Amino acid sequence: MKPDLYGIFGNPLTHSLSPAMQENAFRESGIEARYLLLPLDLAGLRAVLTRKRNLLLKGFNVTIPFKETVSRYLEDVSEEARLVGAVNTVFVRNGRWAGTNTDVFGFMQSLGRDASMSPRGKNAVVLGAGGAARAAVYSLCKAGISSAAIFNRSEARARRLTEEFGNLFPDARLTAHALRDPFLTEAVKKAALVVNATSMGLKASDPMPLPAESIPRAAGKGRGKLFYDLIYAPAETPFLREARRKGHRVLNGVGMLVYQGAKAFECWTNRRAPVKIMRAALLEALKNRESGMKV
Ligand SMILES: NC(=O)c1ccc[n+]([C@@H]2O[C@H](COP(=O)([O-])OP(=O)(O)OC[C@H]3O[C@@H](n4cnc5c(N)ncnc54)[C@H](OP(=O)(O)O)[C@@H]3O)[C@@H](O)[C@H]2O)c1
Repeated sequence: MKPDLYGIFGNPLTHSLSPAMQENAFRESGIEARYLLLPLDLAGLRAVLTRKRNLLLKGFNVTIPFKETVSRYLEDVSEEARLVGAVNTVFVRNGRWAGTNTDVFGFMQSLGRDASMSPRGKNAVVLGAGGAARAAVYSLCKAGISSAAIFNRSEARARRLTEEFGNLFPDARLTAHALRDPFLTEAVKKAALVVNATSMGLKASDPMPLPAESIPRAAGKGRGKLFYDLIYAPAETPFLREARRKGHRVLNGVGMLVYQGAKAFECWTNRRAPVKIMRAALLEALKNRESGMKV
């Protein structure tokens, strides 16, 4: 029997951790399947999507730079993906290609399951206004956050985000600010949750996305805030290190990556994802990638 085929479209893809995570999940679930890296251009992606009578793939992920553009070739896009403005998972529903955004689920699950946090009624600070920040802010609004202050290098981009989501979620108080706005210190002081959704911290030479002085010392044991960095490699960014040293709880992006992958697996197979196996496979792949980089 030929294995079912899944994969990921994007460019570049050399560092993708999804094959390790998904192939281990298939194996654990007794599904004969392969997960391929598909570094195609937009024309290649379109060719796959328009050949629906002869489906080559049973489903796939989409990453940079196609997350925003793939929806034009899909016949069905979930409300979440439409509102967030990005599709990261494509699957077949009723013989048609359907797209969704599992980052929203990934973010919420990691907050709840890995950090036992419910955002309802709380104040948050979100650094960044790109794709990941949109998924995070959308999730927080949906979960009933009281307020979210969005700080971004491009203030105009933060403003567009708050205007869009402010209309959708009128009960959430959303404000937009420049990343260097001195109000950041006060906003962090009032927040229960501070999310880094910028890419600052990916490289060892990156400065912190906010001044270290903006992170106050935790008010006492068990009374700290949650500092959540969506970056998963390195496992501890300077943002998380500073927050941990000052007595706060910290969470990196591993959980979000695992849960978004688990949700994609469930969309494709209608089976419960083996989350523990997927997390272990991801951590192993990260370790191998790190040691490969040191060689
Ligand atoms: N854990 C997960 O599953 C997961 C999922 C998705 C993304 N992520 C992580 O989230 C981060 C953002 O990803 P994304 O998809 O949202 O990327 P994106 O759409 O390209 O957005 C990048 C964000 O970083 C800001 N930024 C970039 N360089 C900066 C600099 N030098 N100074 C200040 N701000 C800077 C951008 O600000 P401007 O708007 O001003 O350019 C923007 O807010 C990445 O680190 C990614 O690895 C994690």
